[in-house]
Amino acid sequence: MKIRPVEDLDLQDIAGIDEAISGSYRPETWEKRIMYYIRRDPEVSQVAEIDGKVVGFMLGEVRGGEFGLEEPTGWVEVLGVDPDCRGRSVGRRLAEEMWSRFRARGATTVRTLVDEEMPGIAKFFDALGFEPAAVTSLVLRLDD
Ligand SMILES: CC(C)(COP(=O)(O)OP(=O)(O)OC[C@H]1O[C@@H](n2cnc3c(N)ncnc32)[C@H](O)[C@@H]1OP(=O)(O)O)[C@@H](O)C(=O)NCCC(=O)NCCS
Repeated sequence: MKIRPVEDLDLQDIAGIDEAISGSYRPETWEKRIMYYIRRDPEVSQVAEIDGKVVGFMLGEVRGGEFGLEEPTGWVEVLGVDPDCRGRSVGRRLAEEMWSRFRARGATTVRTLVDEEMPGIAKFFDALGFEPAAVTSLVLRLDD
């Protein structure tokens, strides 16, 4: 398995993994998303390759000062592993590489948000050592 920074050419493989997870094929959405992260920092967001095919991705960036959280923070914002390749440490390897890139950018903390309706993701972050943070997620729906 090879872990390396995401590139624009990974679009098809990433859109394919998303399709396998979500059931929707959304190449335009992924093109915008991937370009956003590459522009923000071409080294931080990572993919995992097996036999030349991307089987997992983890996208994020280092920010500081948001939400009253002053410390430079590495945010994990989007991740996915091909359902056929799960349970083989692809996610863990992506995370380890990303933490080292976050550290190199001065981050002292890694944060993410997890939807409580996706318990598998919560268990994954738990296995990586994440703990609940004293931050409340709030939402306001803007009706048309
Ligand atoms: C969460 C996810 C990234 C895990 O990927 P993975 O490659 O299977 O994870 P790993 O094999 O690296 O597992 C790392 C650890 O997490 C644990 N883990 C991973 N998924 C788990 C699950 N569903 N339930 C319990 N534990 C889990 C593993 O047991 C492992 O623990 P260990 O190292 O202590 O043995 C993957 O299941 C996934 O892509 N889920 C869907 C994500 C999604 O919906 N994305 C779209 C919204 S952003």
